Amino acid sequence: MHIYAFANQKGGVGKTTLSMHMAVAAMQRNCQTLLVDLDQQGSSTYLYTGDAKYHRSAAMVSGEVRSALDLWTPAREIQPLTESARGFTFDFLPAHAGLDRVDDDLDAGVQALQRLRSLDYDVVILDCPPAPSVRQLAPLIVADVHVIPVTPDALGTQGISQALQLFQKQIRMRNPHLELQILINRLKANSRTNRIIADALAERLGKRVLPYVLYEREDVRKGLNEGKAYWQICKDSQREEWEGAFESLLEGVASTEDLVDAAEELVEVAKTEEAAEEISS
Ligand SMILES: Nc1ncnc2c1ncn2[C@@H]1O[C@H](COP(=O)(O)OP(=O)(O)OP(=O)(O)O)[C@@H](O)[C@H]1O
Ligand SMILES: [Mg+2]
Repeated sequence: MHIYAFANQKGGVGKTTLSMHMAVAAMQRNCQTLLVDLDQQGSSTYLYTGDAKYHRSAAMVSGEVRSALDLWTPAREIQPLTESARGFTFDFLPAHAGLDRVDDDLDAGVQALQRLRSLDYDVVILDCPPAPSVRQLAPLIVADVHVIPVTPDALGTQGISQALQLFQKQIRMRNPHLELQILINRLKANSRTNRIIADALAERLGKRVLPYVLYEREDVRKGLNEGKAYWQICKDSQREEWEGAFESLLEGVASTEDLVDAAEELVEVAKTEEAAEEISS
């Protein structure tokens, strides 16, 4: 299982948008995929369910509906949603308006998210809230990859600086193998400053910055409202950038189903080779 945390203290940089795209990309690779909404604002929950109040519904409050908060209650089974009102095909664990209740205990948060490792998924994506709370720290302690979406502007560079300091001071000791991947998002095509900052980011932070730049495009929002990734509705050159970025993040991740098929084929190859050897000897 590969766990990706989309986290950045800064709001509005694309954590939710890119988490949703990552889930679509993983499904396209045949990976069993789960997206978990850890933000009590419920933005990805809205995109998945089409219901802006889902995470605050009466059923949620009375605890009848399953949500990400169940991860914190060992007695509760984790039962993600499997049908999206907008047609997304990945599974989804929705937000709960009371998620901020868990923000006072980091170890409990780590244990809660570690329960995800016992589920049968190839890829798990965590959409984190925009604050350095337990729900951002615990994901980084449990994840394999920290994707840091940034906007190529002064606030965005501050966001990276904060994220790297957080890694240095609080995460590295507990998760030394966490991989950091910075993904530039929302570059405005007509902004020279955006371009200069994007180039400077790539130059100074080197390999940590993915060599793809995602532009600000109205169709990104439109696509998600229709249950689609940007590359599924748009044919311009940005399509290749978006596909490339997520393919690169998923490099080396294989679906269990594909591995099982490959292993079965291998058995046949071995049998045929041995039979041929017997005949020739
Ligand atoms: N590349 C893009 N092109 C156009 N709009 C975008 C793009 N990326 C994100 N957006 C839009 O910007 C807004 C903020 O994006 P999003 O909700 O993904 O950010 P976030 O980091 O999850 O925010 P928050 O910190 O509030 O959770 C949304 O309206 C989203 O549709
Ligand atoms: Mg968000």
